[in-house]
Amino acid sequence: MKAFHLRSLIELVANPTLLRFYRIKNLTRGYLPASTYKMIYECARRAGEGVMIDIGPAQGGSTLALGLGIRDSGKSASTVFSIEKGLGSTALKMRDDPDANRDVLHANVAQYGLKSVCEILIGGVEEVHHRVDDTRPVSLLFIDADGALDRDFALFYNRLSAGAPIIVDDVIDKINQHAKNYLNWSSQKQMDAYVASKGAERFSDLCPLGKEYTTFQFISYFRERNLFEGEKIVGGTLFARKTASGLFDHERDGAALRHIRDKILNRYYELNPTLSPTSLGGAPQRA
Ligand SMILES: C[S@@+](CC[C@H](N)C(=O)[O-])C[C@H]1O[C@@H](n2cnc3c(N)ncnc32)[C@H](O)[C@@H]1O
Repeated sequence: MKAFHLRSLIELVANPTLLRFYRIKNLTRGYLPASTYKMIYECARRAGEGVMIDIGPAQGGSTLALGLGIRDSGKSASTVFSIEKGLGSTALKMRDDPDANRDVLHANVAQYGLKSVCEILIGGVEEVHHRVDDTRPVSLLFIDADGALDRDFALFYNRLSAGAPIIVDDVIDKINQHAKNYLNWSSQKQMDAYVASKGAERFSDLCPLGKEYTTFQFISYFRERNLFEGEKIVGGTLFARKTASGLFDHERDGAALRHIRDKILNRYYELNPTLSPTSLGGAPQRA
């Protein structure tokens, strides 16, 4: 038996309530541990009535956990809006087929009898957010997408009810393997091709040092701004609650978050000076 299976078995014997979440993880090929899906479920079960936002569900592990939490709580007026870009990620069943990925999400939701609770929106959150019901408060925000927490908080933070759970994955102070590949680039062309392939305008709009690094920087800023409380980080996933007085100030916070993106890019150039605008004869970045 592989070490992974043995560990799972030991965990299950110690905590049989995890079985349901192992099944979800297995069905959806989910990236998160079963115990994290269980924590997401419990947050949804305890949350108030309203709209729950799930950004980046891939094959729906988080969507099922949230949907079951709503169903088990008996909150008949709550809905999960599950927002998935549907292409470009290895977490998806079909990397480049949004329609097929929509079908996967619908099938998984149907298998759990959650069609009346979960609404699937296929497309980048930046494009489809206006399709989220805006007549009800947001009672939970779960984010595991592309690291653009500046965009996600700008879109949804001020709609959250006081005390609503905020759950964010990949809050880890590290430079991941993708970024190590970016740091090996030796020509501007490589960077430009990558930025174009992602449909972005600038490298700083992406995660030059990987998703975890960017997420960690943004979360550190939101913490300083007292946008959440009761924080705990379990295996790289942040669980917190919106503070009663928390307000995302689009002008002030938007500027500060852009500055953080510039700082991340400058750190990239420090680590890969070959591509630095100064070494290429361009203007230095704002820092
Ligand atoms: C790390 S995976 C998510 C894993 C998933 N939460 C799980 O439990 O297995 C990130 C997901 O975010 C999606 N994504 C990336 N950018 C997005 C965006 N702008 N809007 C919506 N989804 C996005 C990707 O397509 C991918 O499925």
